[in-house]
Amino acid sequence: MAITTCVFDAYGTLFDVTAAARQAAKEPDFPALADRWADLANHWRLKQVQYTWLRAVADAHTDFWEVTQNGLDWALEATGLEGDATLRKRLLALYWELQAYPEVPAMLRTLKAAGKQTAILSNGSPDMLNGAVQSAGIGDVLDDVLSVESVGIFKPDARVYDMVGQRFDCAKDEVLFVSSNGWDAAAATGYGFVTAWVNRAGEPMDRLPWTPLTVLADLTDIPQVAGA
Ligand code: LAC
Repeated sequence: MAITTCVFDAYGTLFDVTAAARQAAKEPDFPALADRWADLANHWRLKQVQYTWLRAVADAHTDFWEVTQNGLDWALEATGLEGDATLRKRLLALYWELQAYPEVPAMLRTLKAAGKQTAILSNGSPDMLNGAVQSAGIGDVLDDVLSVESVGIFKPDARVYDMVGQRFDCAKDEVLFVSSNGWDAAAATGYGFVTAWVNRAGEPMDRLPWTPLTVLADLTDIPQVAGA
């Protein structure tokens, strides 16, 4: 079936989650970050998503802002930076204004010009997503921003992916779901979406029962995959 609806993961897919630590490392207040920002960003991201899975299986939901702070606290300690309250505050502030990857605005404009419906489907809380969408200036090329807070559980629970059909009244195989998280794209294949994994870092394929249908290095070719 033709793709009518293109749905994007937010963090790491449209928004560069490493930008917060990279930006803080350039600021004069945080010289200790110079050789540690990449490790910090990596630990932060991994712990953040691990905590979402653990909270989902343990039926202990909280919002993504709390797991983002919990992941950062673990990462600051792991990199020997846990005493710096100013740094913690600055990194959290930067997370609300993450940059979009450079190809994002044009890619979304092309999809909209071709008549596709576009949305974010994210673990992010509505406020966080709103902040990122506003600072990236992409609100006018998104039909909706769907947050897991509507169902109170994180990806890859099927109730999250169900939100797309409920909002857009479309069949699963009309949806192109795009994520930079291999596990998210794989689980969405299992759910029944057409999927694309944006594998910017050239990571190995996750060993899961499903695989993403398309693998891309960035978002430039999404309109082509969607038939736009
Ligand atoms: C999200 C995380 C998983 O935006 O990247 O849902």
